[in-house]
Amino acid sequence: MNPEDLKQKFESAGQGHVFEFFETLTDSGKSDLLGQLEQVDLSELKALNDELVFSGGKRDDIDFSKLTPAPYKPLPADKISDAEWSSAKRAGEEAIKAGRIAAFVVAGGQGTRLGFNAPKGLYKVTPVKHKSLFQVFAEKILSASRKYGVGIPWLIMTSHINDAATRSFFAENGFFGLNPDDVIFFKQGLMPAVDASGKIIMESKSKIAMTPDGHGGCLRAMCRSGAIGELKKRGIDCISYFQVDNPLVNIIDPYFIGFHILGGSEMSSKMIPKAYELEKVGHFCLLDGKTCVVEYSDLPQEYQKMRDENGKLKFVSGSVAIHVLDRDFVERLGGNASGSAKLPFHRADKKIPHIGKNGEKITPDKPNGIKFEMFVFDALPLAKSPVIIEGFRGDEFSPVKNAEGVDSPLTCKNHQKQQAARWLAKVGCATMADSENVPVFDMEISPLFASNEEDFVINWNALPQKPEITDGFYI
Ligand code: UTP
Repeated sequence: MNPEDLKQKFESAGQGHVFEFFETLTDSGKSDLLGQLEQVDLSELKALNDELVFSGGKRDDIDFSKLTPAPYKPLPADKISDAEWSSAKRAGEEAIKAGRIAAFVVAGGQGTRLGFNAPKGLYKVTPVKHKSLFQVFAEKILSASRKYGVGIPWLIMTSHINDAATRSFFAENGFFGLNPDDVIFFKQGLMPAVDASGKIIMESKSKIAMTPDGHGGCLRAMCRSGAIGELKKRGIDCISYFQVDNPLVNIIDPYFIGFHILGGSEMSSKMIPKAYELEKVGHFCLLDGKTCVVEYSDLPQEYQKMRDENGKLKFVSGSVAIHVLDRDFVERLGGNASGSAKLPFHRADKKIPHIGKNGEKITPDKPNGIKFEMFVFDALPLAKSPVIIEGFRGDEFSPVKNAEGVDSPLTCKNHQKQQAARWLAKVGCATMADSENVPVFDMEISPLFASNEEDFVINWNALPQKPEITDGFYI
């Protein structure tokens, strides 16, 4: 499209300001801007502005009186001796050994709350060896791959902001022992960011602010990038999905994979009982017979606090962003889906660097703009036979979201130490803890020794000589 036509189009859409500095740009600046503007779908942007910016973005389409808690498979007292859980484990192990499973981390987020100046996966999280999040995940995958004697491909979704730095980190670290051919990077899509009046934000005179399209963007990014085709070629039909900020995640969990397969599910989820009424997690619910996740910000507090006839929290199932996705399901939704089969967008208020009236760069210290994001859990109502199983928080979930306070590097480090202490207690090794029940010693168990409690007990008992447990213990 020629520049004049494009300008006309943006002006009629009320977005003409993107051309404000056009005449002052070099030829390459002009062509960069035009190239970017051609990618913007102005009618989609108008619809998003109407729905999410001018209306404040609150969901008003839920009839809460119809909402009920989604059913889930509760954790038995002992998974090993429970008939249903052990047959799920057998089915899961068979699928893993048959090479049907890939791991998948969404790592395209900007991690603004943590305030770390690099991709979040590079953040060092472990208590003794200070391993990065990516190293922890790589070692979990490597350990499962060795245990089951099979290659387990790992998909890593990045964004245009962190893709190069992520790839270099893996290359510099020898892919942490993984086969580089089994690590598949791809970038997610972008959406323009707008201000409170729906105007596209200019990041510089020749660039509009484009932000990643949310973790739900992974469905279309897997299809567009060819990652799904690659999985098909390798005979993989189950994708184990997790987030980059949670080092406790049990990535290759045969119980979970088994329940997914035996249940004929297209998308399965792990739930963790909420730690307290107003915990900031999504809630697994049923609405009109469909499983869905209702964000804490959309669920009125009276529902978040509601108790059942036994005094237990009614909406207790917290979503921790751990799923198994069927490859065909991803293809159905992320391919050429239209209308109701497409994931909806949500608004997120973020700090977005931009230019001022005279083109000067401004780095805001509080949210100044709105980005449009899709959420992966919005795929749940579209999935056949979704299965939800309960997970044990201490072995599944401790995200690093904030620089301090709740869900911070310190809470995550303490949870890793508590997990190590719990596993050691299972083999008869007691450790000292402070008044908050945090071990006084720094301790760390490498995923290469064991990445779940069952394997830890087996591997520890097989050690000819048990190591002493002192400060800085690492195995
Ligand atoms: P968060 O919701 O924590 O968002 O992402 P964020 O952008 O990483 O962090 P803040 O809100 O700016 O502090 C949850 C998971 O989804 C991924 C993140 O990388 C993380 O694994 N994500 C999020 C994407 O892959 N793409 C996105 O566009 C957004």
